[in-house]
Parts: sequence; C-alpha cells; structure tokens
Amino acid sequence: MAETTENMLAISAHAQLLAGEETPQIIRPSSTRPDNLKKGGVVSDPRLGVELPGLKLKNPVMPASGTCWYGQEIARDYDLNRLGAIVLKTTTLRPREGNGQPRLLKSGEEWMNCNGLHNVGVEQLLADKLPWLEENYPELPVIASVAGNSIEEYEEIAGKLNASKHLNALELNISCPNVKAGGQAMGVDPEVVEELTRRCVQASDKPVYVKLTPNVTDITTIALAAERGGAAGLTMINTLTGLRFDLASRKPILSNVTGGVSGPALKPICLRLIHQVRQVCDIPIIGVGGITSAEDVLEYLIAGAQAVQVGSASFTDPLALPKIISALPVLMDQYGIDNLKNVKGE
Ligand SMILES: Cc1cc2nc3c(=O)[nH]c(=O)nc-3n(C[C@H](O)[C@H](O)[C@H](O)COP(=O)(O)O)c2cc1C
Repeated sequence: MAETTENMLAISAHAQLLAGEETPQIIRPSSTRPDNLKKGGVVSDPRLGVELPGLKLKNPVMPASGTCWYGQEIARDYDLNRLGAIVLKTTTLRPREGNGQPRLLKSGEEWMNCNGLHNVGVEQLLADKLPWLEENYPELPVIASVAGNSIEEYEEIAGKLNASKHLNALELNISCPNVKAGGQAMGVDPEVVEELTRRCVQASDKPVYVKLTPNVTDITTIALAAERGGAAGLTMINTLTGLRFDLASRKPILSNVTGGVSGPALKPICLRLIHQVRQVCDIPIIGVGGITSAEDVLEYLIAGAQAVQVGSASFTDPLALPKIISALPVLMDQYGIDNLKNVKGE
C-alpha cells in the first residue's frame, strides 16, 4: 500500500490539477518550465492543418477530455493557441462531486482513474468556463464533452450548449466507465447509441462527435450506430476498465473498485479498434489512447484517424502536447510527407 499510495500522491500533484482535483501548489522541475514556450507568437506549419466537421484545426493534436479540465489549468504551462483544439472536461446537467478518494493512480507506465465525472455542470460551463476561453483564446476551436443519466439529459445539455457561440463541436461521452448510471451503460447498446446520437444531433446546432468505449465485444456495431444516428465523427477511445489491489489490505486501491486505464498500454488496442472501424465507417475518427510522441500521431493517422487527442501524457510531462506538435514537421520531413492530410494506411 505504502509504495503505491505514496507514489500516487507524489507523482500526481500536477496530474491532479489537470484532472480537476484540488491541489495547493505545483512545483515543477526547471527542465519542464515552460518559459520558452510562453514567449512569442504561435508559428504554425500549414502542412499540419486538418479540417473536420465544425473544426478547422491548425494541427491535428488536442488534449483529451478530463485531462486539461477547462483550459485555465494547462494555460499555466503553454500558450493554448499552439493546440489544434481543446476538449473540455465532460459536462453533466448539474455539478458532480464524482467518486471518493483515491480516484487517480499511477500504475506502471499507465494511469488509472475513477474520477466519476467530477465537473462544474453545464450552467457554470456556459457562465464561466466558455467565456474565459472566448476572451483569452478567441481563435482556439473548442469541443464540449457531454454526459447524462438518460437520453433526455444528453439532449437537454446539447440544447443548452447552443447558447454558446464559442463552441465548435460536441463530443458525447457515452463511454465513461466510472459512473453508475448513463455513461458507459449507454455506449454498449447500438440501439441506444443511435437514438442518443440522433436526439443530440437534432437538439444541437453543432457537429456531434461520439466517443466510443473499448469495453465492448464488437466496436464496429457501436460505431455504425453512431454514424446512422448522424454523428459528424467518432472519438476513439475512452479508458479500458481495470483493477488494482493493495497487497497489505488486499482491497482494491481505487475507491470505485475498478477504474479506467489510460496511457501507453492503450495504444495498440486503440490502433486495432480504429483500423477495424475504418473498414466500415466513413465519418472522421479522432484517435485517443496512449499517445506520447509525434511518431504515435503518425501511427494513428495511418490506422485511419484524422486527428488525435492526448490525455495522460500531460500528467507526466506538462509540455507533452506542444512538444508533440513541434516534432511533427521534423518527422514529416523524415518520412517525406508533404501534408498530414495525405497520411493514410496502405
Ligand atoms: C483523470 C482522467 C479523467 C478523464 N475524464 C474524462 C472525461 O471527463 N470525459 C471523457 O470523455 N474522457 C475522460 N477521460 C479519458 C480520456 O479523455 C482519454 O480517452 C483516455 O485517458 C485515453 O487517452 P490517454 O491514454 O492519452 O490518456 C479521462 C481520463 C483520465 C486519465
């Protein structure tokens, strides 16, 4: 217990901030200080530009929902204008406290969380979080992530979010493994996914992306259901359900017993799932799972994604995203790629 828990507390001060946990002060080693990245304008290589429904991205890299909270937290580390877009923490109708502690754990190279959709709720998102982004980053494309306990709740939130002009797209989180109602339960049934997607598409002025769970037998049936429901695109994938035990107490370490595994172990699983879905679905895919480098981004594009999200990598290195974005042009030169739009599998 001691080792795991101490590890968790020591490593996760920064991670907790990005995951929306309370943390008094973040002290970074000087090697990760972002001074060099904060100064100067953002020079963007036009070869990195990608267009998706509702999203004109200067590059295909964005932080994943739940790993950058509402943007203020990562804005301490680097200029958000470097990003292709930002995906906000999943929003529910009312604020949620989430699950009890501990709910974030470093497990080898991977992370586990049972955050339980801790968030400020849609009203505060509209009143406070989105206006802050609009004021400070008017050019940055913003994706709001939505979850509800029922189809009606998803629909209601999607409708309320129409009030924001500074929102480019919605991402339906039908895949959260750490809540008892809604979330993943909805994402495993094709009929529910189709209906849920259709109702949100009707309720919203924004393009609707559907975020899939890997915790299913055949992900293609769910992807096709979202496409039939009118999804503008898919986000693949949310975390994979896992479990860790404490040796001394012989009890599960996380408060919710199980948690969602994120980080490098997800990458080959996600690449396989994207490859499978790409064979049957035509809508764009935003890939997410274990990305830590520009090489990973390229591999996701080859598998069939058009853009990517990076989550847990920022917990370990606050500058993971700007570093990945800066490394992309160098990698493109190395592989003779003239434009990222042209990267596809053989
Ligand atoms: C602490 C934490 C909180 C998360 N919260 C959300 C969330 O609110 N909504 C969501 O759709 N995904 C959430 N995720 C899942 C991530 O968006 C992403 O799908 C997953 O972590 C895999 O990417 P990664 O391996 O790059 O971290 C969360 C992940 C972590 C680690």
